[in-house]
Amino acid sequence: MRMIRKVQPPDFEELLQIEAEAFPKSQYDLGQFWNLHQTYPNTFLVDVTELINGYIVFSLEGHLISMAVRSGQRRKGIGTRLVQEASAYCADTPLLLEVRVSNLGAQEFYLALGFNFIGRAKGYYHDGEDALLMERPAALVSR
Ligand SMILES: CC(C)(COP(=O)(O)OP(=O)(O)OC[C@H]1O[C@@H](n2cnc3c(N)ncnc32)[C@H](O)[C@@H]1OP(=O)(O)O)[C@@H](O)C(=O)NCCC(=O)NCCS
Repeated sequence: MRMIRKVQPPDFEELLQIEAEAFPKSQYDLGQFWNLHQTYPNTFLVDVTELINGYIVFSLEGHLISMAVRSGQRRKGIGTRLVQEASAYCADTPLLLEVRVSNLGAQEFYLALGFNFIGRAKGYYHDGEDALLMERPAALVSR
């Protein structure tokens, strides 16, 4: 049975595998997962069947902090479901996120979900790469 639920510390080992595949340049480590779990106890969610298929972390103010789907499970709607779940938590708030300028696949994903480009943050990532800022207006949030 598929479900989206809050992350639990025993999930972190699987999340580390998903991270390594998803973010070769800047993956979270175990300590960072613990910190995220402490900071966002109610809004760090995982999509689970037998395995964890993906995760999303966001703030109730509508900042999408990170998300990733297991590489073998992409293009099956899991990412869309995770963003829809975040939207439901954030009610009438716009959703905001940063994405690497080189991450064209994720940009296409967010465009498909109704996000727009609203700016660029120079040198946002630790390796100096710029981030593009994307926003989904509140009016689209409940759709
Ligand atoms: C971005 C990501 C989360 C998308 O998750 P997903 O479960 O594959 O997304 P979905 O199946 O819900 O995709 C919905 C739509 O988005 C678009 N889309 C998704 N991935 C895409 C890609 N790589 N290239 C182009 N369009 C894409 C498509 O329109 C897709 O619909 P379709 O499959 O019917 O064509 C996933 O590719 C991922 O984990 N990437 C690595 C980590 C990452 O970049 N995270 C975001 C950091 S800001």
